[in-house]
Order: sequence, then C-alpha cells, then structure tokens
Amino acid sequence: MNTKLSVNINKIATLRNSRGGNVPDLLKVAEDCERFGAQGITVHPRPDERHIRYKDVTDLKPLLTTEFNIEGNPKEQKFVDLVLQVKPHQVTLVPDATGQLTSDHGWDTVVNKAYLKDTIAMFNSAGIRTSIFVDPDIRMVEGAKDVGTNRIELYTEMYAKQFPVNPQQACKPYVEAAKRASGLGIGINAGHDLSLQNLRYFVEHVEGVLEVSIGHALIADALYFGLENTIQLYLRQLSQPKS
Ligand code: PXP
Repeated sequence: MNTKLSVNINKIATLRNSRGGNVPDLLKVAEDCERFGAQGITVHPRPDERHIRYKDVTDLKPLLTTEFNIEGNPKEQKFVDLVLQVKPHQVTLVPDATGQLTSDHGWDTVVNKAYLKDTIAMFNSAGIRTSIFVDPDIRMVEGAKDVGTNRIELYTEMYAKQFPVNPQQACKPYVEAAKRASGLGIGINAGHDLSLQNLRYFVEHVEGVLEVSIGHALIADALYFGLENTIQLYLRQLSQPKS
C-alpha cells in the first residue's frame, strides 16, 4: 500500500492574497498539482480568510479530479455550512482557535466526546468521510473510536522536531498510536511539518498511513525544484520499499 499525497495549497493562497490580485492562480496550481501526480488537494479555510477563502473552496470543487480534503474547526458554523455545501471526499476536523497561526494541538477526544460524536455523525450522514486531528496519544486514539470517526490525522509536528535528534524516538509514539488505531479499525492520516527529509522514515516506520497532507515544506521546496519535480520527489519518498 502506498500512502497518498494530498497537497495543502494554503501557502499558494497566502502568496496570492499578499498582492490582492490572482497571482499565483490558486485553481491552476491545484489542477497542476493533480496533473503532476498529487493524489489529493487539501485546503484549510479559516474564519479570517487570510489564505484560503470560502469562495476558493466552492471554485475548486468542480475542477478537482482527485481527493478533496477540507480542514477546519467545526465550531465555526460557516465552516460547517461550507463543507455540507461542497461535500468533499473528506473533512478533517481541527480544534484550532480563531486567528491561530497554524494548528498546534489535536482534539481532546474524551472531553469533546459528545460534541465530536454529533458533528461526525452529521458529516457522515451527508456522505463525507471524517478525520480528526489528534496527538499520538493512546487515550485520544481510543476516544476517537468512541466518537465514530472514520480516520484520525496524527499531528506530526513533534515527530518533525525530534526527527533530526533521534528518528527512532521521534517515531515511537506514532508507531504505537497507529497500531492502536488500526486495531480499532480507524484509518490513519498524518500531517504537519512533514518534509522531504523526514517523510520516508515516517511512512516506513508507522504502519498503515493512508494519506499525508503536506503544505509548507512542499511549497517551499517548489521554489528550488519546481512544482512538478517537487511533487515527484515527495511521491518517491512515499513509494520507497521498506528497508
Ligand atoms: N494538517 C493540519 C491539520 C494542518 O493544519 C496543516 C497546516 O495547515 C497541515 C496538516 C499541513 O502542515 P504543513 O503545512 O506543515 O505541511
């Protein structure tokens, strides 16, 4: 099984918004990512629309031919309405606060059990696969089972930080969390700070990762290698045989 690559195009929107026009053209970049081999496109609209705008999401929907993943906080009613209108393949629920620079923690699936259960049931009954962002913590993974999510997205910032020091230690909580999730029949995604340097090791050691969503590092690499080459480089990390 190869892990799928979903390209997070938020950074393209950030660049576009910095000048107020339509350069770079977000829709074209998304289509090009697919043409260059990406197996999915991820967007993370936030209430202040500082990168992806709500209109971008509705504009993208008819164009995309691969998996569309929309991330965000369902406590924002506008986000819920958007997802139900667009009906992407997957919604990834993230507990980020308004104005937060980037996602920096997963759900407490125990404390938010009732809320997540209702929210997930609502999206599932609209035919949308659900994933929830969680830290690599066995209790949170077990809580994810209780709320009925189809998948979890393991929050990988801690892995990325520790990887240069001790890759094996960095991976350990993720290996265990993934084992528990698989045992409970929950699908596994992963994301945040994954890069050309740390991606292969992660998917080689953490069993059963179905999909990674990568934005910041991939778009930065594209400045040097070009978008097509960069996507190919990331795909190659994902298709390496086990060592
Ligand atoms: N997953 C979630 C929930 C995120 O919020 C982000 C950043 O928007 C990512 C994955 C991608 O992280 P990065 O941009 O570091 O690749």
